Amino acid sequence: MKVTVVGAGNVGATCAQIIAGKDFAHEVVLLDIKEGVAEGKSLDLWQTAPINSYGSRLTGVTNDYSATANSDVTVITSGVPRKPGMSRDDLISINAGIVKSVTEQVVKYSPNTIIIVVSNPLDVMTYCAYLASGLPANKVMGMAGILDTARYRAFLATALKVSPKDIQALLMGGHGDTMVPLPRYTTVSGIPVTELIDKDQLDAIIERTKVGGGELVKLMGTSAWYAPGSAAAQMVEAICKDEKRIFPCCAYLQGEYGLREIYLGVPVKLGKEGIEQIVEVHLDKDEKNLLDESAQAVKGVMSVLDNMKLF
Ligand code: NAI
Ligand code: 2OP
Repeated sequence: MKVTVVGAGNVGATCAQIIAGKDFAHEVVLLDIKEGVAEGKSLDLWQTAPINSYGSRLTGVTNDYSATANSDVTVITSGVPRKPGMSRDDLISINAGIVKSVTEQVVKYSPNTIIIVVSNPLDVMTYCAYLASGLPANKVMGMAGILDTARYRAFLATALKVSPKDIQALLMGGHGDTMVPLPRYTTVSGIPVTELIDKDQLDAIIERTKVGGGELVKLMGTSAWYAPGSAAAQMVEAICKDEKRIFPCCAYLQGEYGLREIYLGVPVKLGKEGIEQIVEVHLDKDEKNLLDESAQAVKGVMSVLDNMKLF
């Protein structure tokens, strides 16, 4: 398996490190527009291979897409991250052009690749990559739900004083403050979380999850990368190993959940074909209203993309 990661910044380099460390890809290519950065980071990472015992060959290139040819999976992390006080949506004017041109280059050399978008605003940048790629929708997806659910699970593990390994949860909707954590689909080793935590505490965790990215931006002056890089790597692994894992991912909806022509976070099955199934779970009235509100927020950002007239 050959994997390309575009953008050798915080998220891209972390993602490449985790993918290579898991040793399921024979080759991992890191590409960046900044001269020497991808070469330097991939060389540094390759020098961890003898220490950490893996064989995935890491290489780096400056904007040379021929080196990415025939990639099975491509992760797009190129673009600017948030600074304190910015929302993810503020990034669209810069990132849409970057994601469009990167995607066009990627598919020129890897016409059958599966694309995982990380750049923000995530749901609309995934849509942008879909439009720019000409690939079928099952081959273009975005990473957000695994990260947002991981934040929710980590907060719950801390509050309940249990292992995060035992917490299973589902979170849907856009990657923004309107995301929809679903307590009815949250369990601790099969025990409904509502049996273990009082409502006020759970509500506070849900609210913290919704602004979990912003909490880290305030602390660090830029957005997070360890959990985002890990989440994208988990999607790459599921595809490369044809694992058929069920994750919340940003997928193109064509009628599922009553929504159409929109990329939004929903549970999907990930395997060698990319998104092999969109899983439709039953949502009660309140949950469906929250999902619809989140879809409306994403539609608002989609109209900003439309007005840019890139397509
Ligand atoms: P960063 O600034 O550390 O890295 C971005 C890299 O992209 C830089 O090295 C830059 O040189 C490169 N780049 C810019 N234009 C390029 C082009 N045309 N071709 C190739 N490379 C190019 O930023 P970081 O922290 O890695 O974040 C990357 C993106 O991911 C941001 O848009 C951020 O908001 C987003 N993000 C999304 C998350 C999600 O859950 N979906 C989570 C965390 C970050
Ligand atoms: C995050 O959630 C900013 O999308 C980025 O960390």
